[in-house]
Amino acid sequence: MGRLAIVCVLLAACGDDAGGEPELMQGGTQSVDDRTATAYSHALPDLEPAQVETHSFGNGRFSFLWLPPILGPLFNHNACIACHAGHGRGLSQIGPSSVGSQALIRISSTLGEPEVPGGNIPVPGLGLQLQDHHIGGVPEGRVDLQWIETVLEYGDGEIQPMREPRVTVTNGTGGPLPAGTLLSYRQSQVMFGLGLLEAVPDDALGELADADDADGDGISGRINFVWDAGAGQTKVGRFGHKATQISLLEQVAAAYADDIGLTNRLRPEPDGMTDISDAILDDTVFFAATLAVPMAAPRDPEAQRGRALFDDFQCSGCHTPTLVTGDHPIPQLAGQTIHPYTDLLLHDVGDRLTDARPDVMATGVEWRTPPLWGIGLAQLVSPEATFLHDGRARTLNEAILWHGGEAAASAESFRLANRADRDALIAFLQSL
Ligand code: HEC
Ligand code: HEC
Repeated sequence: MGRLAIVCVLLAACGDDAGGEPELMQGGTQSVDDRTATAYSHALPDLEPAQVETHSFGNGRFSFLWLPPILGPLFNHNACIACHAGHGRGLSQIGPSSVGSQALIRISSTLGEPEVPGGNIPVPGLGLQLQDHHIGGVPEGRVDLQWIETVLEYGDGEIQPMREPRVTVTNGTGGPLPAGTLLSYRQSQVMFGLGLLEAVPDDALGELADADDADGDGISGRINFVWDAGAGQTKVGRFGHKATQISLLEQVAAAYADDIGLTNRLRPEPDGMTDISDAILDDTVFFAATLAVPMAAPRDPEAQRGRALFDDFQCSGCHTPTLVTGDHPIPQLAGQTIHPYTDLLLHDVGDRLTDARPDVMATGVEWRTPPLWGIGLAQLVSPEATFLHDGRARTLNEAILWHGGEAAASAESFRLANRADRDALIAFLQSL
């Protein structure tokens, strides 16, 4: 944890002492007061009428069910909303037995050369993402997902059921994938608050990063620098489970191209043609940038105690409670004090969470700290929703217990805490 994080934690604490509960306005002045199943689906409250119109065009695109011949031919699902239900995380569901795959598999090879400096090496014939659906043809792969059940024991002897995925992939005709293929199984992420996260200045993330753990707290954290072809240099990655996308535009253009099979301005056909217009792409990006963050629930005494434990257990070493946004082309996103509980940095969270697949600069054990704002509503928005990059954690308790690596001491503090303290920490998370 770097210098700025300490300052922010102190500031947040000072704010609480001052009475009022400033952390409740998680999305700054643009937070919305809805703790029901629609909590993730609101536009920023202060949009101008013209912006409201663009947001609602974008919403239409996000919800649109694409059909052949525009859809695909290779794809994972046929709509953004199909994988981001209620604008939250999708289900950890993939393979021919499921209605559609809401999760997906990133692939790369250990053999060959990257296409861009420092980039991932595409698998011959398959690229960097496995499309497990195909219009009228053979998909790139067939995925079988099994869950292995285990248990973990708390310090007081209570037993916590746990589970982890086993993903088996064959090529479209049942044979093996090319030699050297690496797989990363991932569920989708929440859609709200992303414009605010985009507006956090690169410098602020640089301040939080502490790659060599200079302050000796066992927590480092580093930026994933990703090649930007347009700029001809690397830029700060911040979206996706391994922070491999530098902007919402890049992330959304990749989603259209790779998840739904729709070429676009950033990802055209070889002859320069595109399936979707610039307006569709740009409206979807605007929509993704302008979904508001729900306000946190007022904290009862138990949740307040949980908030203190969140600091005591060093959760806030990575899940940074307070960040301040800088400039952004959408003025409502600029200069906001937000409470996302993320530093947007990569952290080693241990061998048990590894996907054993490097992703640009990230190693297998490194993942981007996910924001925790709104997490208490995840299973209200989508009752079957699960946690962590592959959705293995059915509860917040399970999610915490999987943490290892830089977060090993944190997770162990939770495991060894008494039941009342564990419940208080969970009550705090449920209030977010
Ligand atoms: C097949 C399911 C699927 C579809 C369809 C899909 N997504 Fe996603 N989305 C995902 C997954 C999985 C991730 C995590 C990707 C990763 O880490 O590599 C993700 C991540 C994202 C993120 C990054 C969020 C963050 O916090 O970093 C955004 C933004 C996003 N998707 C937008 C979209 C948009 C817009 C569309 C439609 C054009 C779309 N997605 C279609 C599954 C899907
Ligand atoms: C060293 C950094 C670090 C520390 C310390 C840490 N976390 Fe995390 N946390 C992460 C990362 C990285 C992930 C994502 C891991 C993955 O997806 O496999 C994560 C995931 C989570 C998730 C699941 C989020 C989601 O959207 O699915 C929860 C909940 C969570 N952490 C809570 C906590 C709590 C509570 C503590 C303190 C006991 C804590 N974390 C300590 C880095 C950290």
